[in-house]
Amino acid sequence: MATTTLKCIILAILFVAITPQLLIHAQQKVPCIFPFGDSLFDNGNNNNLLTLLKADYSPYGIDFVYGVNGRFTNGFNIPDILAQLLGFLNGVPPNRAGGGSNTVLRGVNYASGGAGILDETSLQLGQQIPMNQQLKNHQVNIGRIATILGNQTAADHLLRQCLYTVDMGNSDYVNNYYALPLTLTRILYSPESFAEKLIHEYSQQLTTLYNLQARKVAVFGLQPLGCIPRELFLYPPKGTACVDFINDAVRLFNTKLISLVRHLNTNLPGANFTYINTYGILSGNFAATLGIKVPNASCCEVNKITGLCVQDGAVCSNRDEYTYFDDYHLTQIVANYTTSRAYIAQTQSDAFPVDIQTLIQAQ
Ligand SMILES: *[C@@H]1O[C@H](CO)[C@@H](O)[C@H](O)[C@H]1NC(C)=O
Ligand SMILES: *[C@@H]1O[C@H](CO)[C@@H](O)[C@H](O)[C@H]1NC(C)=O
Ligand SMILES: *[C@@H]1O[C@H](CO)[C@@H](O)[C@H](O)[C@H]1NC(C)=O
Ligand SMILES: *[C@@H]1O[C@H](CO)[C@@H](O)[C@H](O)[C@H]1NC(C)=O
Repeated sequence: MATTTLKCIILAILFVAITPQLLIHAQQKVPCIFPFGDSLFDNGNNNNLLTLLKADYSPYGIDFVYGVNGRFTNGFNIPDILAQLLGFLNGVPPNRAGGGSNTVLRGVNYASGGAGILDETSLQLGQQIPMNQQLKNHQVNIGRIATILGNQTAADHLLRQCLYTVDMGNSDYVNNYYALPLTLTRILYSPESFAEKLIHEYSQQLTTLYNLQARKVAVFGLQPLGCIPRELFLYPPKGTACVDFINDAVRLFNTKLISLVRHLNTNLPGANFTYINTYGILSGNFAATLGIKVPNASCCEVNKITGLCVQDGAVCSNRDEYTYFDDYHLTQIVANYTTSRAYIAQTQSDAFPVDIQTLIQAQ
């Protein structure tokens, strides 16, 4: 009896210790993935925070294999789908889940709903984890990685091979600059000077990431925020499908972000930053391509104060025919479409200078 139990335990340990690693290493196209970002990338980091910006209740996750989980969509989000394309079948865990185990070597998701490039963005909606804090959390995990691998040199070597994805800025516009009632930010800054201020700060943050050994970095540009149901509700357009002045402001930021990516690649030795043209991918005729029938209204019943789904509220049954699940966030089908074009560009303008499939092959 005792011997059998012992054998079982030994077999179990061998199974856990050897088999998954062999499988994982055979399939993974990069050793590790570290997503940074806002609610488009969050996979549960806000669940334990005191904030209005949470998605840890039904109907969020209605199409997700494990149900409600904190993702701001009905199913998988962009980092999940990208992770799957890279051979990480279960994605990478939220940083909230804590480090300490060897899983930190495969990557951690730092993204937080409402998070901005600016620390003050979304603060009035409660706690979130802005980009500056996400970078600090990453530094803590780098310490753990160095401990696990034995020294900093080994940690740095690993960190240079990882894929980093960053999706920032959407909240700085939606929850800050274009929030109503009129914000001080909008009074003090023109769209041009606000974009400039964000890019200045973002430049420092992305350089910090580089200094923490990140080399392969995919930076996602802003979506056409003037088309999200939230802005259509706050600024009803007259005779146009989207709020044009918001899309103009977004394009101003994106143009500066492309220049920043070019600048970082030129000035930081060995850096491979790439820009993902989320705006372009989500413009044009993508809705027709996907069979989307409702591009301008949310699938779930929303609370008009927060723009998020009402807890246990009504939800559409034909979720694959909607662009947006709530007033801000893409449905799984559109997240999947965006990610597939970020990974393998369909047109020259989908990614600059390279798509993610090419990025991960950089030496
Ligand atoms: C760091 O650790 C690796 C093994 O993980 C070892 O090969 C290497 O010699 C160590 N380097 C230093 C500087 O201690
Ligand atoms: C990565 O950056 C180097 C310069 O640092 C450049 O020569 C190379 O073409 C880049 N590779 C990719 C895939 O972008
Ligand atoms: C969505 O688009 C349809 C068709 O163009 C239009 O009739 C409807 O008013 C729009 N809804 C919103 C919320 O903008
Ligand atoms: C994403 O789209 C591809 C086809 O383009 C499909 O094979 C895959 O199942 C989709 N994944 C999800 C999560 O919808």
